[in-house]
Amino acid sequence: MSQAIAVLDFGSQYTQVIARRIRECHVYSRIYPYATSASELRADGVKGIILSGGPSSVLAKDAPSPDRRLFELGVPVLGICYGLQLMGKMLGGTVEPTRQREYGDSLLTIRKKGKLFHGIKPTIHVWNSHGDQMRSLPDGFSTIARTENSDYAAIADEERRFYGLQFHPEVFHTEQGTDIIRNYLYRICGCKGAWSMAEYLETAVERIRAEVGSERVILGLSGGVDSSVAAALIHKAIGEQLICVFVDNGLCRLNEREAVEKLFRENFKLNLRVARAANVFLSRLKGVTNPEQKRKIIGRTFIQVFEREVKRLGNIAFLAQGTLYPDVIESVSIEGNPAALIKSHHNVGGLPKRMKLQLVEPLRELFKDEVRRLGAELGLPKEVLWRQPFPGPGLGVRVMGEITRPRLRVLREADAILLQEMKKSGYYYKVWQSFAVFLPVHTVGVMGDERTYENVIALRIVESIDAMTADWARLPHELLGRISNRIINEVKGINRVVLDISSKPPSTIEWE
Ligand code: XMP
Repeated sequence: MSQAIAVLDFGSQYTQVIARRIRECHVYSRIYPYATSASELRADGVKGIILSGGPSSVLAKDAPSPDRRLFELGVPVLGICYGLQLMGKMLGGTVEPTRQREYGDSLLTIRKKGKLFHGIKPTIHVWNSHGDQMRSLPDGFSTIARTENSDYAAIADEERRFYGLQFHPEVFHTEQGTDIIRNYLYRICGCKGAWSMAEYLETAVERIRAEVGSERVILGLSGGVDSSVAAALIHKAIGEQLICVFVDNGLCRLNEREAVEKLFRENFKLNLRVARAANVFLSRLKGVTNPEQKRKIIGRTFIQVFEREVKRLGNIAFLAQGTLYPDVIESVSIEGNPAALIKSHHNVGGLPKRMKLQLVEPLRELFKDEVRRLGAELGLPKEVLWRQPFPGPGLGVRVMGEITRPRLRVLREADAILLQEMKKSGYYYKVWQSFAVFLPVHTVGVMGDERTYENVIALRIVESIDAMTADWARLPHELLGRISNRIINEVKGINRVVLDISSKPPSTIEWE
């Protein structure tokens, strides 16, 4: 751990992005609360400290402020945005509000390359977001780069190895931003860059062990990427102390429960309980056609079933969740008291509070691609790691109108054919999602000499980067034809297949 870089969190929405950039440079980083004591940082052997940005103003009365002794550790410090102003002010400079908040792109001109700007072009585009700026620098500091709006866009005291950047090197819009961070890590802090995901796994395992001790942990395993990686990781750390619960709500895809059981119970030897609750879910959904009402019933019932499992097990102290960084919204009050809030997840929101369980969220610092790499390190198969997203309410929001068992059967069979053909053709991994939707509409067809009057299946196949926007995938006509033929021929109750060619917005990906 002697290679660790400490990122002190002053509540910026980019703190995690800084940590990610450091990991991309193959250096271990750890996010600490801003008030962490200098002695703790010294005890952890940190090689460098980064003061993150933050939404507060250093001019505010109760602006969050770090232990001032961290400047006496003899360790390089890099302040970013708020972090720069904080360091500047704490070391004897002055800060003033800018007349106009600087936000977005600006052109940075480097005046002195030094170690921080080694290999960086003389002018680069950088990304800003600040309302204050330095008016005078502390002793020992000088300007190393400026923008049109700021004489102190980058400052340094090379002797003491203190650096400050008014802009955000961690965001994508800053040119060569990662190179600047790499310079700080390698050239200034002397890190070697030997850290890898395998090492992350080791530290994550140690952290989980330290966090939960000998207590038992419960995790709702859905079979999706995040909960699967969290399960495998926590299992590696604490083995039998982890109990996973798969809630079979009767709204799963074909053979989904069996696949989860096979992988986790047989291969991973994980302590897996299956709550067979299809009857409860389906009876409560009887006669319900309103999409929001369906979602509410499914969500509420999930919580009840899960809670019952926890009660039955008794003596559970922790609830594990596969929360990723993008699920975490940094929320900071005006007074500048950083606090992390979890976005209320549509599937398990409210669970921990009600059940008085402590949370374990070992994937909290990671982005999706990192979670996949961690999962690969843990030996999870590609089918799990690259599985398409599947909504919490499952097929419940893919059967239009009332959810009935016969409709679910039809949808499952059609969906399985679509899935099979998508995988066989390789398109499954190229699109964002591909699924079938059951339409409770009867249309006329002919089969042999007979007239049929049966239901319709819609195919929803979309491309997307983040599910915020999406477009329908232009798949080869032969593939679409094969899927349609197979569904109509093989699924009893369907005589027509239609293709959804709407984009999001204005449509959504799911139909409900
Ligand atoms: P929409 O339909 O809003 O969906 O365009 C965007 C993405 O979110 C998924 N989705 C859900 N995921 N619980 C989830 O975990 C849900 O309740 C839920 N609803 C929609 C959807 O599949 C798509 O990827």
